[in-house]
Amino acid sequence: MIEPKPTVFVLNGVNLGTLGQRRPEVYGTLTLKDIEKLLRGEFPSVTFEFRQTDHEGEMVGFIREAAASTGLVVNPGAWTHYSYALHDALEVVDVPKVEVHLSNVRAREEWRQRSVVSPAVDAVVAGMGARGYVAAVGYVLSRAGSR
Ligand code: DQA
Repeated sequence: MIEPKPTVFVLNGVNLGTLGQRRPEVYGTLTLKDIEKLLRGEFPSVTFEFRQTDHEGEMVGFIREAAASTGLVVNPGAWTHYSYALHDALEVVDVPKVEVHLSNVRAREEWRQRSVVSPAVDAVVAGMGARGYVAAVGYVLSRAGSR
């Protein structure tokens, strides 16, 4: 039997379009394009839907679209800390889901310590920079077919 090609959604939220210029000492020097290239290089047999938006409602739409995929990786940016709308959207999408943060949010300001989306995902990766996305996609693929 020919296995269908896995499709992984990689969703980046508010302000992540400025990666590369934005606080490189915290978020690194790679742009989102660089992260996309890194993932495509590491996982040549995966179809990626790589998206970024600064609009919360648009992100909700992307999350719903991922319902038919192999899994999703999401860095919600600052929405992580207060968006119940993203929590609720993630909660109903029954595919493997990983929350990623480039920085180690646990070691930063107190308001970043709390994630309101974490209860709606399977795993959280933080502080590994761009490699965190690679780890997250690896996890999603390892879970494929296990639900
Ligand atoms: C971030 C951490 C968030 O606190 C912050 O608002 C971001 C990026 C990260 O990738 O480390 O925008 O999600």
